[in-house]
Amino acid sequence: MLPLIAGNWKMHLLREDAIRLVSALRAQATSLACELLVCPPATVLADVAAHLAGSPIMVGGQDCHQAPFGPHTGDISAPMLRDAGASWVILGHSERRSDHHESDALVCAKAKAALAAGLKPVVCVGETQAEREAGQAERIVSIQLAHSLPDGFSGAVAYEPVWAIGSGRTPTETEIAGMHSLIREALQARFGAAGATIRILYGGSVKPENAESLLAIPEVSGALVGGASLKAESFLAIARAVPSNH
Ligand code: 13P
Repeated sequence: MLPLIAGNWKMHLLREDAIRLVSALRAQATSLACELLVCPPATVLADVAAHLAGSPIMVGGQDCHQAPFGPHTGDISAPMLRDAGASWVILGHSERRSDHHESDALVCAKAKAALAAGLKPVVCVGETQAEREAGQAERIVSIQLAHSLPDGFSGAVAYEPVWAIGSGRTPTETEIAGMHSLIREALQARFGAAGATIRILYGGSVKPENAESLLAIPEVSGALVGGASLKAESFLAIARAVPSNH
């Protein structure tokens, strides 16, 4: 399975800039040793998907509701994302867990809805600075993992330490290796052989400068990139840093 380099655009880019970005990605994303995914805001998702039609670059949402349809003003469901051209969806990002008080149980329900609609979820887990300082990082991530993934889960898990997001700071390579191996063990214990096919992405201040060393860490099967995914040059530089022996 090729590593996955995913761009989480968060609440950035109006239509013109979004289309300019994906046009550049489409033109320049050649001979890569990874798969590419862009997750634009819902307002431009259908346009982005239309511009990427026929290219290997995949499109994902940044969240979905747990119900397929219904009276939920302002929400977007998994079948709607699929209908707009998405094949993936990010769920349980720490910004949603904090801004919208999303619990593990809610993330789990959303992941179930995504899978039912034919979307592959990227479920995010990660500890806060205070939790890491208290020596609780592994415990917190294990709990989030146990309760945020539904039975029969497939797709990807992203380890995103909250304190590493947008901060320019990352855990050490040893810390990332330790957490990814703990996640892999938990996935295999729960899902058996299928647990080996779930990608484990690292996210949090991934940049062209640190991508090569981060992507070479054992059990790092790709990256979830925020800020650096907003420019074709930096996003592709990260994609080109994927070791060719994966
Ligand atoms: P940055 O790459 O900007 O740190 O964001 C990471 C992130 O939250 C991706 O989901």
